[in-house]
Amino acid sequence: MEKAVIAPYKQDWSSRRNSRQHPLLSAAFATGLLIVCGYAGLFTAYTAFQGPHPKKFSVQIPINANQIIQKCANLNVIPSPPSDFYSRKESDRHVSGTRPTLIKNATIWTGNIDGLEVILGDLLLDKGIIQAVGEVPVHVLNAYEHGLLKVIDANGSWVSPGIVDLHSHLGDYSSPKLRGSDDTNSRKGLVQPWLRSLDSLNTHDDAYQLSVAGGVTTANILPGSANAIGGQAFVIKLRPTEERSPSSMLLEPPFAFNGSGIQEVQPPRWRQLKQACGENPSRFYSGTRMDTIWAYRQGYEEARKLKVKQDVYCEKAVTGQWDSLGDFPENLQWEALVDVLRGKVKIQNHCYEAVDLDGIVRLTNEFEFPIAAFHHAHETYLVPDLLKKAYGHTPAVALFATNARYKRESYRGSEFAPRILADHGIEVVMKSDHPVLNSRFLVYEAQQAHYFGLADNLALASVTSTPAKIMGQEHRIGYLRKGYDADVVLWDSHPLAIGATPKQVFIDGVAQLKNPFVLPKSDYLQRAPKTPDFEQETKAALEYDGLPPLGPKESVSDIVVFRNLSSLFLDLGNGIEQIFATEDYLGEPQIAVVQDGKLSCVGTFGTCPTSLDMNSRTVDLHGGSLAPGLLSYGSPLGLVHIAGEETTQDGEVFDGLTDEVPSILGGNSPVIRAVDGLQFTTRDALLAYRSGVTTGVTAPCSSGFLAGLSTAFNTGAAHKLIEGAVMQDEAALHVSLSLSFSVSVSTQIATLRTLLFGRLEGDLGVQIAKVLKGTIPLVIGVHSADIMASLIQLKAEVERETGKTMQMTFAGGSEAHILAREIGAAGVGVILSPARSFPFFWDMRRMLPGPPLSQHSAISTLLAANVTVGVGVNFDEAWAVRNTRFDVNWAALEAGGEICKAEAIALASSNLEKLLGLNSGTVSSNLVATTGGTILDFESKVVAVASAKRGVVDIF
Ligand SMILES: *[C@@H]1O[C@H](CO)[C@@H](O)[C@H](O)[C@H]1NC(C)=O
Ligand SMILES: *[C@@H]1O[C@H](CO)[C@@H](O)[C@H](O)[C@H]1NC(C)=O
Ligand SMILES: *[C@@H]1O[C@H](CO)[C@@H](O)[C@H](O)[C@H]1NC(C)=O
Ligand SMILES: *[C@@H]1O[C@H](CO)[C@@H](O)[C@H](O)[C@H]1NC(C)=O
Repeated sequence: MEKAVIAPYKQDWSSRRNSRQHPLLSAAFATGLLIVCGYAGLFTAYTAFQGPHPKKFSVQIPINANQIIQKCANLNVIPSPPSDFYSRKESDRHVSGTRPTLIKNATIWTGNIDGLEVILGDLLLDKGIIQAVGEVPVHVLNAYEHGLLKVIDANGSWVSPGIVDLHSHLGDYSSPKLRGSDDTNSRKGLVQPWLRSLDSLNTHDDAYQLSVAGGVTTANILPGSANAIGGQAFVIKLRPTEERSPSSMLLEPPFAFNGSGIQEVQPPRWRQLKQACGENPSRFYSGTRMDTIWAYRQGYEEARKLKVKQDVYCEKAVTGQWDSLGDFPENLQWEALVDVLRGKVKIQNHCYEAVDLDGIVRLTNEFEFPIAAFHHAHETYLVPDLLKKAYGHTPAVALFATNARYKRESYRGSEFAPRILADHGIEVVMKSDHPVLNSRFLVYEAQQAHYFGLADNLALASVTSTPAKIMGQEHRIGYLRKGYDADVVLWDSHPLAIGATPKQVFIDGVAQLKNPFVLPKSDYLQRAPKTPDFEQETKAALEYDGLPPLGPKESVSDIVVFRNLSSLFLDLGNGIEQIFATEDYLGEPQIAVVQDGKLSCVGTFGTCPTSLDMNSRTVDLHGGSLAPGLLSYGSPLGLVHIAGEETTQDGEVFDGLTDEVPSILGGNSPVIRAVDGLQFTTRDALLAYRSGVTTGVTAPCSSGFLAGLSTAFNTGAAHKLIEGAVMQDEAALHVSLSLSFSVSVSTQIATLRTLLFGRLEGDLGVQIAKVLKGTIPLVIGVHSADIMASLIQLKAEVERETGKTMQMTFAGGSEAHILAREIGAAGVGVILSPARSFPFFWDMRRMLPGPPLSQHSAISTLLAANVTVGVGVNFDEAWAVRNTRFDVNWAALEAGGEICKAEAIALASSNLEKLLGLNSGTVSSNLVATTGGTILDFESKVVAVASAKRGVVDIF
């Protein structure tokens, strides 16, 4: 275009009134001379063009015409780092005074070459960036002043990039939960692209330091999923900043937040937008999927029109047609969606089912914008070809590993989804949705994805390089490369080994763990686990449209011979013992013979004659193991098919403390029995069974004080009337005490005292009498150490009166470690649930985090005080039951060698059996056969369950 000479002669005040420009916006043009009250005025200008026939004319050219033209030129610039970014010597996030650090002799997973590159060498961190990877030139090291460089000898330890969480609500849904902690969902409209998660970011969330202790260095903080368009997301680094502000936590904010609202930095940086479809927006807005998609189309149409106006405006501006052009068309509410249409926004789209994915894919093609990733996305593995039809490029898929079936939309979720999607060339990300999953253990999601078939390079990439790329930050995070941000995790094992824990975490080169407690880890954990073969199961997931049959392939009631056993665990009456391990014998391979579901002989083909029966079924365990079946307590397993669907579950009991209990039920004293509500073959129960959790103990569902009597059942049984399906009709009496109830804690304790001093008649009186005699345990759901202290006193009070010893068990127990000695002395047991505590609520906030933040874990602290400890799962997390075997292995690793394998198994079998009042031998009447390792290992797979009570061996 021709160059205009702009001469500001006279301010045209009349234009002020008509200006539609936003006051904040105009600060962007503040380089002009005469900006009054934040408004850019128009100026009359005489422009003379040089030429053979100079012509004098008059046109109004705005004083900020150059900026407008620049703005127009920038409109469609795709975000990128500044051109000099790759030669930077110092990070914009560098904290001055940070000592340079040399990590020597590390095993460095760089993320390069598709995650396949591993370098043995050194890593130099300085000025907030990685200065060298592998070999650090001597002259570089020599240039440092003597003593300045901090040297860490990694002794060959694994080093990875910081863990990157693509989907988190850290700070926006803070812990512990207090009023105002949940700032994720606005209820003011279906489409609200103008909202910003940054505006909710609480800097005092207890979870920041916990997540950092798990190696998480960067997180994308998304608004919630109650809206179709919930708002803009922001990427933060998790370390504390000197300024202590939310804004100072931002990584490459797309705007200069010290100034105007939507002033883009140049070149533009990636913006993030949260979208959601399906059930959540429908539920929150009493609408349907049709309403949601229409709301999207309406919003995008609004944005499209604004974009067209801007484009028309710019076309005129760049060709000098300033006359009556007015102000650049701008709208604070729709500008974010316009940027979507200009390809400047990474859309993180919560979307589960084929129907919803289809709707969004159509939307992307109608309005021509790409989706960065579908999140949760439990059905994406069923529709890869649909994903490939999305506008622009195939979206990545951000998943949980095994958290599924919690609502219809996730009912067909599969643990094999990461692997199936990767096989289709679709990028896979594992994400936390923190605090839905505690992001401290995001790497555990990658470990599980690997266990179920995702290649190790892709599994590690799924929580580092891939999410970095999907959020548009792969130029600086997610890899260990020269010039990248110094976000580095030094691990105590291979990061994909179970229980992998950081020894140190660097963010922007700043060491985050002040005094890390490091665990001793054995050599075999220093490599990626060799995971089992799930080929058949993976195929079946697809073949059955996400609902493969989960029952055994066959149930054998005759003789079954297990060959090539390397270890055997049994409960011979004194808890779990390891009967033998490979190291113990050097002779013939060991076998175990099971007849009618009962172990009849262990030895060799020579010493177990029954094994020679030619017709008997033989199962080769390839160095595997037999161990007692595990038990799970804490979730409503067996009472619920789908947690989010009321019509699929037993339902909640009346709470006699706060509800009017109908008189037809007997007023306030009925005791509800979970056994009456049991539902067999829930998918969570069958998956638990296939994962070695053969017994479920479940109390009636209650969100109040009195739940009722729990029951023990076989998780693999087809229905209640099968012999052995119900293992014990009634186990324990269950109550809960909590700061969260509507009646006071003192009232709850008074109620318990009234009950325990035998002042109640009816059914409840009968059950309490059993508790007082010590024939059934009183299991008390409690997290607060203060409430536990009152309960310990109450127990002593009652026992003085009755002269008998009560069996009391605390379930939950997040703060139990504070009273470990007193709990041990009082003979109270603890079921820690979840196994790894998290401060969800105030009465859990003093949980013991375990290494690297504390030397001891809650479990090892309680065990050291002679407390009988079991591990349970969270309420509402029946999906998590299947992971019990990994939970107890992890607990053993966290105890730093103080818990052997047999004791680890006991945490979820014989100990729980005792704590929940099951007859001794109930749990160990099931034996679980695993190939490739013990029931605890990522290398092993459950292949059969022998049930003495049912008289069969189920073979999977
Ligand atoms: C490496 O070994 C040395 C000597 O045993 C020890 O002091 C140091 O803490 C180890 N480093 C790491 C990162 O574990
Ligand atoms: C690196 O550490 C390993 C494990 O401690 C050790 O065997 C090896 O000798 C070390 N290499 C160097 C170069 O220090
Ligand atoms: C605002 O931030 C930008 C980018 O970080 C910086 O260049 C500018 O100087 C800051 N302005 C003020 C007024 O602090
Ligand atoms: C735990 O029990 C052992 C063995 O009975 C005993 O020696 C030890 O003192 C007990 N520890 C505590 C903390 O009570």
